[in-house]
Amino acid sequence: MPNKNNDTLILGIETSCDDTCAAVVKNGREILSSVVSSQNEIHEKYGGVVPEIASRKHIEMIDIVIKEALLKAAAAPGKISMVAVTNRPGLLGSLLTGVGAAKAFCYYNQIPLIAVNHLKAHIFANMLAYDDISFEAPAEYISLIVSGGHSSIYIVDSNLKMTEIGHTVDDAVGEAFDKIARYLGLGYPGGPVIDKISKDANPHFIEFTRPMMESGDFNFSFSGIKTALIYRTKKFPELMNEKNLPDLAASFQAAAVDVLVHKTIRACKEYKLDRILISGGVAANSRLREEFAVSAPENNIKIYIPPVNLCMDNAAMVASLGYFEFIRGNTSNLDIDVYSRTHF
Ligand code: KG4
Ligand code: ZN
Repeated sequence: MPNKNNDTLILGIETSCDDTCAAVVKNGREILSSVVSSQNEIHEKYGGVVPEIASRKHIEMIDIVIKEALLKAAAAPGKISMVAVTNRPGLLGSLLTGVGAAKAFCYYNQIPLIAVNHLKAHIFANMLAYDDISFEAPAEYISLIVSGGHSSIYIVDSNLKMTEIGHTVDDAVGEAFDKIARYLGLGYPGGPVIDKISKDANPHFIEFTRPMMESGDFNFSFSGIKTALIYRTKKFPELMNEKNLPDLAASFQAAAVDVLVHKTIRACKEYKLDRILISGGVAANSRLREEFAVSAPENNIKIYIPPVNLCMDNAAMVASLGYFEFIRGNTSNLDIDVYSRTHF
């Protein structure tokens, strides 16, 4: 399976939402290429992703993106040892495009297919950024995944098994960022723009209640902060004055981030683990990164957080996870669909 240099090249494919992504990764850890074709501009005018448009655009782009990834990696198709593809969770029409392309590539080149879980793949963005992460037994990590669709805390063990210990009971945190940005007229996606305008703003402009901060479990709630902001600005319309927008954004961001950091650190203490793998689009958030950078060392905890470009959806993380699933014997049949459970 590996080539004559004993290297394994994995082609990763990711189309679970609105980005068409392909990447070539060596031995699960080294990115040779990572191509992302974003649809943000298309969906921006609708204020969110339109699934039907997303899947059509994936069909237009998938071959182009795969070819570019191979070209950038200087890897002919025959040099690829296996293909890893996200087959769940995500938008079904979008997933189908990537899964179909992966199957065709594997069938033609007679190489193994590894269908992977998108959330678990986010965690493996860290494998591409740090050399000292290993899933050899008895390694166990706390993992915080914060994206547009999920906000959960897991324990990940050496079999790559993820046990969820907490999740959002309403909106995902990225979804809350996007909805607040839309309400404030800041565009889509909301996270990056809220992050940017909050930089020099006052996070104490409105002291929002930190929802479920002391609930005793590891669950989250973010829609309450959004509702509180909407009620407050409806009651006092002058708050929506343009000059206040950065302070409103910063106040929301501070409330959301405080809860995420507090609960993740507490999970480490309760489960007596001292390493946290953080990932997902919201892991790009500057305030989240800063708060973890302060409170983790205070609690003798080490944090791993990918560089910003690897926090967003990409196929390099999919290829990395695919490799580590493969060496554990977890491959998929060519009749895999977008509903099938992967190794999770
Ligand atoms: O992981 P991702 O690229 O796609 C999903 O799997 O959902 O995450 C996208 C989410 C969006 O909700 C976006 O607003 C949010 O990540 N996001 C951010 C930042 N950059 C992206 N949220 C807060 N701060 C950021 N800097
Ligand atoms: Zn994602």
